[in-house]
Amino acid sequence: MTDTFDIDYNRLPSHVAVIMDGNGRWAAAKGIPKLSGHKAGMEALKKIVRKSGEIGLEYLTVYAFSTENWKRSDEEVGGIFQILVYYMEREIKEIHKQNVKVNILGDYSVIPAKAEKAVRDAVELTKNNTGLQFNIALNYGGRDEITRAVKRIAEEIKSGKLSVDDIDESEVSARLFTAGMPDPDLIIRTSGELRLSNFLLWQSAYSEYYFTDCLWPDFDEAQYLGAISEYQNRKRNFGGR
Ligand code: FPP
Repeated sequence: MTDTFDIDYNRLPSHVAVIMDGNGRWAAAKGIPKLSGHKAGMEALKKIVRKSGEIGLEYLTVYAFSTENWKRSDEEVGGIFQILVYYMEREIKEIHKQNVKVNILGDYSVIPAKAEKAVRDAVELTKNNTGLQFNIALNYGGRDEITRAVKRIAEEIKSGKLSVDDIDESEVSARLFTAGMPDPDLIIRTSGELRLSNFLLWQSAYSEYYFTDCLWPDFDEAQYLGAISEYQNRKRNFGGR
């Protein structure tokens, strides 16, 4: 593969996670409606999913809608879900052709019915695909995810399925939405904000972070490869020396 970045394709991160931030500011800078920014964000996402599959990435996780995003106006929330339905209905054939498997992180039973159905159909259609595992965090919050795991563990102890002595990190991991998946190696956040915003709190313990001022709709394949290239130049020691 030829590109302008010095990337070792045999040493790719297994799992890249992305906080797609800056759609609103991108739209404001252009003097267009905020939802047009989210639409442009969807176009950027299409490029990054395609590129991830092409380079042979195993896992891509994107933060599409957080447990806190419900606080936004009804118009914006409704619009984001409409964009999601559009994406799921129009793009799913292409995603399926790319052998991508769609997974959802988060309790999506509470999202608008049309979006819930579109998401369920996409997960069902792609469930046997063996290429990129594409996780969409929807109504996702890291604290909510950990709280759910704690509740499940408590219930299993109460019913005698698990004993207190059995609880270890792997038992907690096994009850998260990401059960069975590797932790993210690289977390990218666009738009210059330097926060984790309740994203993958447990899983990000040893992740490398890449922050860029680029607003999400402007994030393209070149920016993505640049982030992966920088990741490959970092030295990770997981607390050791
Ligand atoms: C953050 O930008 C973005 C979101 C809250 C929504 C992300 C949604 C998409 C990219 C739409 C498509 C998603 C899928 C899965 C099809 P912001 O609104 O917080 O930007 P701002 O901080 O500049 O206001």
